[in-house]
Amino acid sequence: MSEGSDGLVREPKRDDNGPPGPPRRRRFLNWLLGTGAGALSASVLYPITRFLVPPELEESTTNQVTLPIRARDVAANSGQVFRFGSRPGMLIRTPAGELKAFDGMCTHLDCIVQYRDDISRIWCACHNGHYDLNGTNVQGPPPRPLEEYVVIEQDDQIIVTKDA
Ligand code: FES
Repeated sequence: MSEGSDGLVREPKRDDNGPPGPPRRRRFLNWLLGTGAGALSASVLYPITRFLVPPELEESTTNQVTLPIRARDVAANSGQVFRFGSRPGMLIRTPAGELKAFDGMCTHLDCIVQYRDDISRIWCACHNGHYDLNGTNVQGPPPRPLEEYVVIEQDDQIIVTKDA
């Protein structure tokens, strides 16, 4: 406050473009430094946080799928991989003509298995693991059998389910 020549006490002049406070240049610099430090902190902390707290993996909740292939198109002594929720499945038709389905991931280290018609076995190429036509691990490093699914043939459709 200052006293004018007329003897009246007056408020100091204000900038008409904003509230009283630090000069605009200083406010701008404060804002610039504040946002820069915030952006820098975020760019450093975000990847660290994402690394330390991995996202939750969605469990497959699929219990049943209808395959996009007709039962009559699956030849005897053949197999193919299909999608069962977020996992691969293995559909085979045995040399005797029976349709069977299994989890398509090897029980050793989760490679996707395939069907070998030359030996009529489910086979894992990663470490030469073998499963028989019942999904039983019979050779190589796989420690457990493949999970078997239930196959239902209905009007030439193939329905694979985990539950009977
Ligand atoms: S991952 Fe299949 S045998 Fe190793």
